[in-house]
Amino acid sequence: MAGSTRETILTGDRPTGPLHLGHYVGSLRNRVRLQDDHDQTILIADLQALTDHSGRAADVQEAILQVALDYLSVGIDPAKTTIALQSAIPELSELTVLYLNLVTVARLERNPTVRAETDLRGFRRDIPAGFLVYPVSQAADITGHRATLVPVGDDQLPMIEQTNEIVRRIAHLAGRPVLAECRALLSDTPRLPGTDGRKASKSLGNAISLSATADEVRAKVQSMFTDPGHVRASDPGKVEGNVVFAYLEAFDPDRDGVAELAARYRRGGLGDVALKRRLADVLDALIAPIRARRAELARDAASVLDVVTAGTARARSVAAGVLDDVREVFSLARRGPARRP
Ligand code: TRP
Repeated sequence: MAGSTRETILTGDRPTGPLHLGHYVGSLRNRVRLQDDHDQTILIADLQALTDHSGRAADVQEAILQVALDYLSVGIDPAKTTIALQSAIPELSELTVLYLNLVTVARLERNPTVRAETDLRGFRRDIPAGFLVYPVSQAADITGHRATLVPVGDDQLPMIEQTNEIVRRIAHLAGRPVLAECRALLSDTPRLPGTDGRKASKSLGNAISLSATADEVRAKVQSMFTDPGHVRASDPGKVEGNVVFAYLEAFDPDRDGVAELAARYRRGGLGDVALKRRLADVLDALIAPIRARRAELARDAASVLDVVTAGTARARSVAAGVLDDVREVFSLARRGPARRP
């Protein structure tokens, strides 16, 4: 928008399956708020998903529609937010290739996010090269959308730092600023644990997906970890580290009610069954309207994919401009506006 002071936001998700309640509190809810006064793009990062899911490429492609449905059913409005597909923006891949010349393997191996994820997956010298360099591809995503604000969890802070290093190296090569630096917008909600208290993940089956049925929600709540020392309802129980309370804190709009329950639980006299019933009701009240909108939208999948195609075309024209600017820094000819795929 001409003369606009709205900041440009980029966020993204790897499409590896349907999104869950952790995504909802950690990012989706924020995105719905941010879309009103920012130019927001959400990138479905399917190429990034392939960096550690190359053996399940068909699942990744299938998840694209699921994730797009998740966005629209929680209230992401395509009139306000651009939803784009990473693999359909080849300019981002070309930017990645150029940026790779500015980053050392040592620097990538020192990236704390890459280190943590490498340990988690047990990679050693067998690490896929694409996985090692995905921070560079993420830098291409961010700069390729001219984003200055990136809402992320604190685990992604090293990505922002690495992006800004690339931005500064490009400026140094060019002798003038070419790309804007970005900053993180950290969410203030604590990370939502999985139902077993570990990190929520699709592969552990300990997350509650936004597309869960009412029965699935109840079953997942039933299986939640509470306090192993709280055997009888009359026993005093622990609230800290208790997964049911973590979810109530995150989702129950009745704050005073939660505080009261916590006090009763600590004193003794509140059983897990009653506590879980309350949580199941709270979660179902949240998910039911999302589920209804999702069912409605899913009847016309082609329209959902059209939203992604239109968003991708918009994002692509921005990326083409950025690519031209960066090609010039490397003494390559500008290529002009994005050609139709
Ligand atoms: N790495 C992010 C994640 O795993 C996903 C992502 C891809 C992203 N590209 C991005 C996030 C650009 C922010 C900006 O959640």
